[in-house]
Amino acid sequence: MSDKTSSSATDGERVSPSPEFRKQATVKSMAEYKRLYAESVTNPEKFWNAQAKELLQWRKPWKKTLEWKEPQAKWFVGGKLNVCENCVDRHLGTPRENKAALIFEGEPGDQQTLTYKQLHVEVCKFANVLESLGVKKGDRIAIYMPMTCEAVVAMLASARIGAVHTVIFGGFSSESIKDRVNDCQAKIVVTADGGWRRGSVVPLKQNVNKAVTGCPTVTNVVVVKRIGNRVSMKPGRDVWYHTLMHDASHKHTAKAFDAESPLFILYTSGSTGKPKGVLHTSGGYLMHTTITSKYVFDLKESDTYWCTADIGWITGHSYVTYGILSNGATNVIYEGAPNFPDVDRFWDIVERHRVTIFYTAPTAIRAFMKWGDKHIKKHDLSSLRLLGSVGEPINPEAWKWYHKTIGGGRCPIVDTWWQTETGGIMITTLPGAAYSKPGSAGLPFFGVVPKVFDDDGNEVRKGKNGKLVLTSPWPGMLRGLYGDKKRYKETYWSEYKGVYFCGDGCKQDKDGYFWIVGRIDDVLNVSGHRIGTAEVESALVGHSGVAEAAVVGRPDELKGSAVVCFVTLKEGVRQSDAVRTELRNHVGEVIGAVAKPDEIRFAQALPKTRSGKIMRRLLKDIAAGKEIHQDTTTLEDIKVVKQLQEQG
Ligand code: PRX
Repeated sequence: MSDKTSSSATDGERVSPSPEFRKQATVKSMAEYKRLYAESVTNPEKFWNAQAKELLQWRKPWKKTLEWKEPQAKWFVGGKLNVCENCVDRHLGTPRENKAALIFEGEPGDQQTLTYKQLHVEVCKFANVLESLGVKKGDRIAIYMPMTCEAVVAMLASARIGAVHTVIFGGFSSESIKDRVNDCQAKIVVTADGGWRRGSVVPLKQNVNKAVTGCPTVTNVVVVKRIGNRVSMKPGRDVWYHTLMHDASHKHTAKAFDAESPLFILYTSGSTGKPKGVLHTSGGYLMHTTITSKYVFDLKESDTYWCTADIGWITGHSYVTYGILSNGATNVIYEGAPNFPDVDRFWDIVERHRVTIFYTAPTAIRAFMKWGDKHIKKHDLSSLRLLGSVGEPINPEAWKWYHKTIGGGRCPIVDTWWQTETGGIMITTLPGAAYSKPGSAGLPFFGVVPKVFDDDGNEVRKGKNGKLVLTSPWPGMLRGLYGDKKRYKETYWSEYKGVYFCGDGCKQDKDGYFWIVGRIDDVLNVSGHRIGTAEVESALVGHSGVAEAAVVGRPDELKGSAVVCFVTLKEGVRQSDAVRTELRNHVGEVIGAVAKPDEIRFAQALPKTRSGKIMRRLLKDIAAGKEIHQDTTTLEDIKVVKQLQEQG
């Protein structure tokens, strides 16, 4: 049913926070968590009303906390705020203004620190730049950048002027940039002359050049000089960031925008078709990311926090940019790979910057485990006080290793389940309040009501597998899919009536802890990144030599899921390793390196039922090297199975 499994244990081991951690935590006991949680679900409007007043700065109070007409939620209706002002301006005039907001470290080792005051100057200048390029409230801006301060500045400046950003991960191809820019009709693309990755230059500008020839809505490309290499600049369209910034005023008055005004669109893979543009708005999203940062990471303004996610993913939006800066903490950002120049790069960064909170993905944790403890032991990690995990289920073995070797046995681990669509963390354990169970994401966050349903929409018994749903609206929830109301309803609200279906399989144990099993739709979670099998299939059949393709996931110890493709070639194209390599590269070019297949198997035909349906479950078993127990009597041509098995 799924590509991965979490622990087979239903109840799991329990690991409690230390008394020292508990004492200083924002929520110190299970009783306190339970009280707050009960308040948040019995009277959500009262709860969020109070939290929004306390945690955010508003220009105009709202009239109604929630307006819910399934599947459309509006939060803080009538309220006005400026998201950027909440993340930057409100720290000015406080002792926070001269502390580091961003500590950037480039892969080659260069560093840059921006205090909140300096960040304010940069953001104001870039807001003026965007306005001078004709960007107005509601216009879309694409950001295709390495992980640098300018990337965060671009997001905040866009928010400041009421524009809508769409960040495109730097590992995506020209083709993917073009699709996204055209889908949201972006006016401006912000990019760099390149970025560093494992000592090589990622040709960002070159990719943008190729993409925007097919993007009629783009009027300007703003280019940050990161590498200093020669890039081709089209006169009249392309402009250097530093030239524009040099001439820009550092004074910018932030306007107030409706709580429901769009903040960003982030494209993510679904089980069908092209990636969908998940739309998030301002007040509710900022509320959700601010409150979860505060409670889940136990974030204090004295913390030096580091999340290793790229801003191209939702984790980088919610827990690099918005939630963290809104809380006034110090935020470390790192441009490059975890193993450059050596496999201890992350621990070197933690040690030098005295990082206190560290948030990463299980795939990375498993890679560090494999690389060996000796690289970690070289470093003083005593500054760490809390660890986080996100993106995929963490297996108990990796959890325990993370706890002991990185956390020195003293740091609580928060495993955080959420999605691009949920905007912020939904299931986790508040670190000073609840014990963790290695392998389980934990308990619902305030205001979140998850349930586990069977296929008919009945709640399953505790301990039984089912589908994870969310039964009431929450502030950070997506407001729709950009430009496609119908798809929004179909994708999330049609599996069951009146509840949100997230696509994950799950069980809840008798202590109330949720154990996420993984995706149960045709979406793969590869190293914590979502890849739609339909997207990879469409890329493959777009190659002139391919007749038909089916893509499935295979459980992979390191990556969670590996991408396995079953391909039939056109008449006259011979099966060979050269064709395999060509197809892998082709997928890389169409989607991006993240989606490159791990394995390609050829067959004369794909296994299909007599009614012509590809037998995906059978393919999954073949990919995993499992014995076939399924009924293959409906199979059109049984020989095919053998042929595919032989290539494993
Ligand atoms: O399958 C779940 C998995 O990642 C999916 C969401 O992917 P994306 O929108 O790219 O967001 C990733 C970062 C929030 C989910 O449907 N997932 C995410 N976090 C966890 C997880 N699975 C298990 N445990 C988690 N902590």
